[in-house]
Amino acid sequence: MSRLLNVIQGESVDRPPFWFMRQAGRYLPEYLETRAQAGSFLDLCFNPKLACEVTLQPIRRFDMDAAILFSDILVIPYALGVKVEFVKGEGPKLQPTDSPDAIHALSVPAIEQALAPVYETVSLIRSSLSEDKALIGFCGAPWTVATYMVEGGSSRDFKKTRTLALQEPEAFSHLMHVLVESSVAHLSAQIKAGAQVVQIFDSWAGILANEEFEQWCLKPIQAIIARLKQLHPDVPIIAFPKGAGFRYESFGVESGADVLGCDMSVPVDIMADLAEDIVVQGNIDPLLVAYDKPAMVRQAKQILDAMKGKPFIFNLGHGFIPDTPIDHVQTLCQLIREA
Ligand code: CP3
Repeated sequence: MSRLLNVIQGESVDRPPFWFMRQAGRYLPEYLETRAQAGSFLDLCFNPKLACEVTLQPIRRFDMDAAILFSDILVIPYALGVKVEFVKGEGPKLQPTDSPDAIHALSVPAIEQALAPVYETVSLIRSSLSEDKALIGFCGAPWTVATYMVEGGSSRDFKKTRTLALQEPEAFSHLMHVLVESSVAHLSAQIKAGAQVVQIFDSWAGILANEEFEQWCLKPIQAIIARLKQLHPDVPIIAFPKGAGFRYESFGVESGADVLGCDMSVPVDIMADLAEDIVVQGNIDPLLVAYDKPAMVRQAKQILDAMKGKPFIFNLGHGFIPDTPIDHVQTLCQLIREA
């Protein structure tokens, strides 16, 4: 069994398990090479052999305790029939789903067929990965996926999405319903194919106003978790409500998640308090890892120190950025191993 699963199940471990968000990606030369071979980013996501290869690349280099499926949160809109493209240097571009008519035209797709290559990738990874490594599956939270669908890509202020939720509550609720159902089906299919843990990324939870947070972040995630717990009671769920700020504490307990993913705004003493109620994952600043090695070392030691003996998974507060030097990552891994 892996250290990651042991910690989640409340067993004691020799040191904290670790993995990193975006551990596969552009900071690795071997990723860039495979990426160039694959064609487009989505071609890579839907090529089981190559997607398995890039999933395993960081494990070979750094020997983390878990691999995360190489895919993207935007495969769900793709499965819904939305045109999705990744434009170099510009991020994702989607055909916007920004009117009640466009939203009501959506229905929950036959995910297992639409995303069959993803599940083939999962089983390929599981069969190539040693027993002591956990395999993590994932999806985006409905709110975060909805922002990309409504805005048609990334956004600075998410005005279109928040306005639509306000002015067209019925249509927006339908969109969230479709995303909840699709996410349950997608995570369940990943679990059946061999994922042992799943993470729900709510990258844009932090832009919601107080009244919206419960409705569009907490409730949809609660619904996904409740359904998954019926289908797969033994599979742990990590929820990452990025930017949730002071709502972290109540979210951890109310969401029903097994593990609470903390972003880098959460102070280390608060993480230590949160760990009294739930397994905590986090939260070194990926910018320090990229640009300030001495500060990275200081922060890593602080985190390791404060979380010693508590139910804790070491991770970043958000994903690695492409500028991250490999030797900084090596130093970080070394520090965690020695903790
Ligand atoms: O190693 C891993 O973490 C697994 C793979 C993974 C990717 N995306 C690969 C990827 C995971 C878990 C994601 C999640 C994801 N995707 C999120 C949630 C986490 C977060 O970062 O907040 C979001 C919001 C997306 C949507 C997305 N995908 C954006 C905004 C972008 C463009 C920005 C960027 O970093 O380029 C992507 C593209 C993407 N997804 C890349 C990778 C490795 C880079 C694409 C490339 O190689 O050209």
